[in-house]
Amino acid sequence: MGSYNRPFTAKKNKNHREIAVQIITLLEITQVQAKILYSISLLATYNPVLYSMSFTFCLRISFFLPKRCRKCWCTRSFRYKMIIAPLFLLAFLGGLLSGYAVFVEPCSITIAEYDIVSENLPDAFDGTRIALITDIHHGSFGTCNLLDKIVRMTQDQSPDLILYGGDYVRKSEAARDACFTKLSELDAPLGVYAVLGNHDYWKLPQMRQAIHNAGIVLLENKAVWLEKGGERILLIGVKDLWSHKSSLIGVQRELAKSDFTVLLSHNPDYYDAMSPNDRNLIDLMLSGHTHGGQITLFGLYAPRKTAQAKFTTGLVKPVDGRTHVIISNGIGTVGLPIRFFARPQIVLVTLKKSP
Ligand SMILES: [Fe+2]
Repeated sequence: MGSYNRPFTAKKNKNHREIAVQIITLLEITQVQAKILYSISLLATYNPVLYSMSFTFCLRISFFLPKRCRKCWCTRSFRYKMIIAPLFLLAFLGGLLSGYAVFVEPCSITIAEYDIVSENLPDAFDGTRIALITDIHHGSFGTCNLLDKIVRMTQDQSPDLILYGGDYVRKSEAARDACFTKLSELDAPLGVYAVLGNHDYWKLPQMRQAIHNAGIVLLENKAVWLEKGGERILLIGVKDLWSHKSSLIGVQRELAKSDFTVLLSHNPDYYDAMSPNDRNLIDLMLSGHTHGGQITLFGLYAPRKTAQAKFTTGLVKPVDGRTHVIISNGIGTVGLPIRFFARPQIVLVTLKKSP
């Protein structure tokens, strides 16, 4: 392993290899060290923050380390300790975090459990468990088979009711068929229902047919009564908010204050599209769409906004009505195939009668 001794000479129109050689020369590292550094830096490119920090740092080095550094304070040893080592550490940490965000977190589906307590709930539905599976985005680039995991984990929970929140597949017929063939393995005593997400309006008739063939009932601005022990609760599913066709008008005659009502809407922002009167008639709204931010700053802040910040993830308690809103992180990814502190999840809601 030899080091480069060629001095830095600025020329116009250099190709990338020449520039790389000059950077190596400037930093006085060997080719092997440079390749390792480059590989780790490549991984770090998945982390935008660390990437921009590394890039800025490299840029500063190339501008502020002229040859005179050899004769002054910036000895090779000092440069190695103060520049190369931190840069290497930064890239290494970036690589670790990137590896986690690319290979670990998107595959680690968790069960997010919530209890919804209501005096409106009929006694027969006390303890009823609802599984919400949403934003599968099957067919998007990823590193693991999420469909198998979803089915296995949901079967393990034995929910009474299974709801799908939309955004099932990437635009691919093969992905759509594979997705619904797998989902057809799931069943529940109170049934399996679905709504559409904003990604599902591609080849809509075929999408509806695939959902139907999987034994899933698609609710498009429709309501169904779920019956158990001679009592019943109302389930409503609306079209996606971004289709501009979501509405509760067709189900108004079913809505009554005395009934426990669940609303399934892909987009949680539909909460604000409802009238205050409707918010007073719905007990629980289940949504997805946001992916929990998908890439967050350690769960504290999510730059990606697909819904109001208050609806990014989790449980939002009623403010001006009686509607509890639960937003799932969903399963898959859109855009970059990574997740960071927004683990994929299946939501499991237990309905409880208030004493
Ligand atoms: Fe969506």
